Amino acid sequence: MRCTLFFSGLAATALAAEPFLNEPDTGLETFLHQTNNWTEGTQPALKDMRGLNDFDFAARQKLSTENYFYYRTGSAGEWSYRNNLDIWQKVKFRPRFLTDTTKVNKTLGVTILGYNFTSPVFISPAPRAQYGNERGELNYVEASADEDTLYVAAMYAQKTIEEIAAAKSNTTINGPQVIFQQVLPMLVYLKYYSTNSPQIYSNANLSVTWDNIARAERTGAKAIVWTIDAPADAVRHRAARFDTTNANSATSSLTWDLYDQMKNRTSLPIIPKGIASVEDAQEAVRRGVKAIYISNHGGRQLDHSPSPLEIAYEIYRNAPEVFKQVEVLADSGVRYGSDVLKLMALGVKAVGLGRPFLYANCYGRDGVQKAIQIMKKEIAQDAAQVGIADLRKIGPSVINARELDETVYIEEK
Ligand SMILES: Cc1cc2nc3c(=O)[nH]c(=O)nc-3n(C[C@H](O)[C@H](O)[C@H](O)COP(=O)(O)O)c2cc1C
Repeated sequence: MRCTLFFSGLAATALAAEPFLNEPDTGLETFLHQTNNWTEGTQPALKDMRGLNDFDFAARQKLSTENYFYYRTGSAGEWSYRNNLDIWQKVKFRPRFLTDTTKVNKTLGVTILGYNFTSPVFISPAPRAQYGNERGELNYVEASADEDTLYVAAMYAQKTIEEIAAAKSNTTINGPQVIFQQVLPMLVYLKYYSTNSPQIYSNANLSVTWDNIARAERTGAKAIVWTIDAPADAVRHRAARFDTTNANSATSSLTWDLYDQMKNRTSLPIIPKGIASVEDAQEAVRRGVKAIYISNHGGRQLDHSPSPLEIAYEIYRNAPEVFKQVEVLADSGVRYGSDVLKLMALGVKAVGLGRPFLYANCYGRDGVQKAIQIMKKEIAQDAAQVGIADLRKIGPSVINARELDETVYIEEK
């Protein structure tokens, strides 16, 4: 009952290894059938969304297959996509009891590059929010203002940098709303994106990138998030079926030299997004970045690239000082409060989510807000269960991650 015909096909594909559930069965579909107030193919009520995976189910009811596939696609066999979701099981908590954890929900706040937010979760850059709701990214801006969380706006958002900036609130709990702006200096022809913003990029001409950075500065973005893990077109079979991947692009020359050029163009901090190894994390530190962003792009770029948990652990095992030298953000496959805690235990400061917010946006602004609230609540609840009285003091002793030693690169001393 859990899998529609469409998804039983998906499971069958994965059968070579082990059956893969698009999302764990937490009883939503059974509940909806039993309560008799839901018709297949329609969105369930927002009140019935209990966890972030529920939004995936709900989005499938609303979105066309083409648009859902664009959101959902992973690269190639989607092994990284699955690993992003599965890997959390390899790290166990080490709960300590008989500690007063009643105030842990007051300690969720984080400071990122000097800006305060009331929780360590943020919205990762992912464009085309309008598929879920015609107000598109405006829902992201408003919901993150109300929840006082960070929103990293995507370069190819449906709404322009200026429209997003104009929707910002001046009165969040922590003052004027803070947004970071993603830039993607892709030196390629973006076939699909060009329907929204027809621009042709060439290796010889970075003027569009400089212009985008200037626009971000002008409109008050507080940091540039620079996507480094898309040097080439991704192999995305699911999306390619509808030609909704950037199928006609070429490789781009993304180098540290380009970082230096960008740095000379802006006074904003530039956060490299897509750090996937300890060496690149260390190189970023040497280059003077203030923050790095661990990610495998939600498993959308390179299949068999590591999950954020594995990357964070690789850094922790080989160069733990990195977490003190720079602020570390992370995303990819985060779906529960406990996932956030595991990353934070290793030293990650804040954790982003991409698809869950795109799916939640099928309910508009209220859906996005509810998704943020669910995460905040789960983080506080699970922290209390683990025995964490103050999240600002979370450390590696709350987890046992030794199983990752088998999969993570550890330098031989
Ligand atoms: C539909 C979609 C489009 C995305 N586009 C971009 C992009 O243009 N630039 C980028 O840096 N990341 C992009 N991402 C990756 C997200 O920023 C983020 O790393 C990823 O979604 C996190 O994984 P999750 O979806 O499992 O939470 C995209 C993700 C999705 C789902």
